[in-house]
Amino acid sequence: MKTTITAIKADVGSIGGHIKPSQRLLERVKEYVSDVASGFVIDHYVGYTGDDIAILTTHQKGVNSEEIHKLAWDAFKAATEVAKEQGLYGAGQDLLKDAFSGNVKGLGPAVAEMEIEERENEPFILFAADKTDPGAYNLPLYLSFVDPMHCAGLMLSPKMKAGFKFTIMDVSYIKGDRIIELNAPEDIYNIVALLRDNQRFVVESIHSRADNDIVVSVSTTRLHNVAGTYTGKDDPICLVRTQGAFPATGEVLSPYQIGHFVAGFMRGSHNGPLMPVALNTPTSFFDGPPLVSGAAFCVHDGRLTEPADVFNHPYWDYIRNKVSRKATDIREQGFSGPAMLHMEELEYGGITERLDVLDKKFKVR
Ligand code: 13P
Ligand code: 13P
Ligand code: MG
Ligand code: MG
Repeated sequence: MKTTITAIKADVGSIGGHIKPSQRLLERVKEYVSDVASGFVIDHYVGYTGDDIAILTTHQKGVNSEEIHKLAWDAFKAATEVAKEQGLYGAGQDLLKDAFSGNVKGLGPAVAEMEIEERENEPFILFAADKTDPGAYNLPLYLSFVDPMHCAGLMLSPKMKAGFKFTIMDVSYIKGDRIIELNAPEDIYNIVALLRDNQRFVVESIHSRADNDIVVSVSTTRLHNVAGTYTGKDDPICLVRTQGAFPATGEVLSPYQIGHFVAGFMRGSHNGPLMPVALNTPTSFFDGPPLVSGAAFCVHDGRLTEPADVFNHPYWDYIRNKVSRKATDIREQGFSGPAMLHMEELEYGGITERLDVLDKKFKVR
């Protein structure tokens, strides 16, 4: 049976700054989705990471379904009303357009979806990150699908022999989807030449080369491309199918032990280490550190199990301590050098105005 898995995520308001959604806000999204979804959605799950709410649905309408996207858009709209009533911070923050127009892509919310032919057992993970951007998944995905240091299956499993095809998007191009397809393992030097630049080149999807099955889908929205100005970080989601001819769940999780530095953190303008956290974890230190949660499911005939909370395990306490140390280390240098993003990536226009004023005061001696 063909099943579509659609994850749509947005920040429509949060308590105490950019920390977490209120209970009422979450309830409103859940209630809206359960009321409206019956009939055309097979199953759903709603959770949060930092100040972002993710709606996961399973259905048979294929990717880019207007009905499914509208359901999420309307659920977020309904929740925005609650956010306004409660005076939450950034009510409706990620709903950048007034009206829905067929697809939430380009309207603000992050979308990752895939239509799959269900395997007999169909495990997959929904990753949701806050205070960072889609390039945050570049390194972990590369390592899980290309590097035997993290994916032992590349060496041990005959099913993975053919490797994987990476579809990479140039997210700085705004007139359309500018993409390139590159095959691992033979193109890995080309793949890394692009993926090193997390702000420009982003893994959009990965397919297995043995049967052209989709394995990974990442949201590629850059909010500043949509709004033309800073409105919040892109806070990306990612779906990864696991096991069988794909990396095992543990191989997909393995690179998250690095706590690699990603863009985001305070005001979306800094570099900080990515911290793997339990489901429904709020944001904290310096509006971060950038967080990622993982909900693993099995889906059968479109029906979801309850989520397994992949980073809620004693092993990750050790990693979280390490990431806290890395976060403290980089914060000790405040605004200096690599602690902050490159000029074009700073999410506030204020600094450009300030520099323009200063520029006029410069003299050549
Ligand atoms: P099982 O033999 O328990 O299915 O495990 C296989 C596997 O993928 C372990 O990473
Ligand atoms: P969000 O994109 O998660 O709302 O964060 C915005 C921000 O500026 C945090 O400092
Ligand atoms: Mg926010
Ligand atoms: Mg957020």
